[in-house]
Amino acid sequence: MTDAPPWLASVRPSLAGLSVYDVPRVSARARLHANENPEPWPDAVMAELAEVVRRVELGRYPDSSGRELREVLAAIHGCDVGRIVLGNGSDEVISLLLTALGAQARPVLVTPAPTFVMYGHSARVLGYEVREVELDDALQLDGPGLDRALVGATICFFARPNNPTGTLWDADVIARLVAAHPAVVFVIDEAYIAYAPGRSLESVLVADNVVHMRTLSKNGLAALRIGYAIADGRLAHALDKVRHPYNVSQTSIAIAHAVLTRFADVQAQMIARTTANRGRLAGMLARIPGAHVFDPAANFVLVRLADPTAARSMIDALRRAEILVKDVGHLPKLAACVRFGVGTAGELDLVEATLDAWLRAGA
Ligand SMILES: Cc1ncc(COP(=O)(O)O)c(C=O)c1O
Repeated sequence: MTDAPPWLASVRPSLAGLSVYDVPRVSARARLHANENPEPWPDAVMAELAEVVRRVELGRYPDSSGRELREVLAAIHGCDVGRIVLGNGSDEVISLLLTALGAQARPVLVTPAPTFVMYGHSARVLGYEVREVELDDALQLDGPGLDRALVGATICFFARPNNPTGTLWDADVIARLVAAHPAVVFVIDEAYIAYAPGRSLESVLVADNVVHMRTLSKNGLAALRIGYAIADGRLAHALDKVRHPYNVSQTSIAIAHAVLTRFADVQAQMIARTTANRGRLAGMLARIPGAHVFDPAANFVLVRLADPTAARSMIDALRRAEILVKDVGHLPKLAACVRFGVGTAGELDLVEATLDAWLRAGA
């Protein structure tokens, strides 16, 4: 073993306790572990998108802030284009927010727990104090606990629907916290809102300390890596100072533009199919003796089995059949819980057959 080189001392100490967010590309017959929308785009749409890509001028930079896509998004959301900031996935938007805010010597992130891991991860990278407030047993927000944690905080993320629980948190609790803590920026992350139609807080929760965050990833476009914030103009301006120019590729911008302006109906059908398949999956999981299915509001379903041994046995049986699901049993409040992405009808046939065989074999 060689001695540690002196520059290693310059690596942020906050990285020492963090692991790399790595999702290895394993082959599988059903990939239900990443909350994607796996419905295939129709061949005719793929042919049109290929034409869009063919016209991309590879030698030229894209618009530095993705202006033409932001204009389409501003029209969809009925807001000023200056309020929209694009990120390379909403993962980047999370980092932009945490970087632009944080004027305090030790800025503070507040999140419910469990929730999407990148809020805490990116905050820890930047040296934030992270205050996590556990959900209650119904996987709803602990309003009083959050109220206490938010004193002196910088930023708070509410994923609604939440990942990995799939639950839709009480809007009144969120609205009360937002009003009670005007110095905290609240980010309402609606990554999965397409699967909970009519439940968006975008027009309900309007305040200068509220940012609405969206992504195209969960709606059949994960490969593009496009997420965005809709923020108060002054905060959007600050985010733009942090954001690297040209942070979203022209290929992604052009495909997203074409989908949103020409193929939104096709996308809506894909989302509707997934929402219908979610009902089938939830029913399948509810038939497992001793299982509890949490009311799903996203494109995945969270199930609690009778005990951790049953959860492990089921995950192993699924893995042997090359079905990937997410074991979330180690997270607070989620003992014996497993998260299943909805999958296509064909993938669900495979899940159904595998679960039936597992149950017949005595689980
Ligand atoms: C709640 C939530 N927000 C944001 C993201 C990140 O999405 P993106 O692909 O836009 O980076 C995810 C990804 O799983 C998520 O679950």
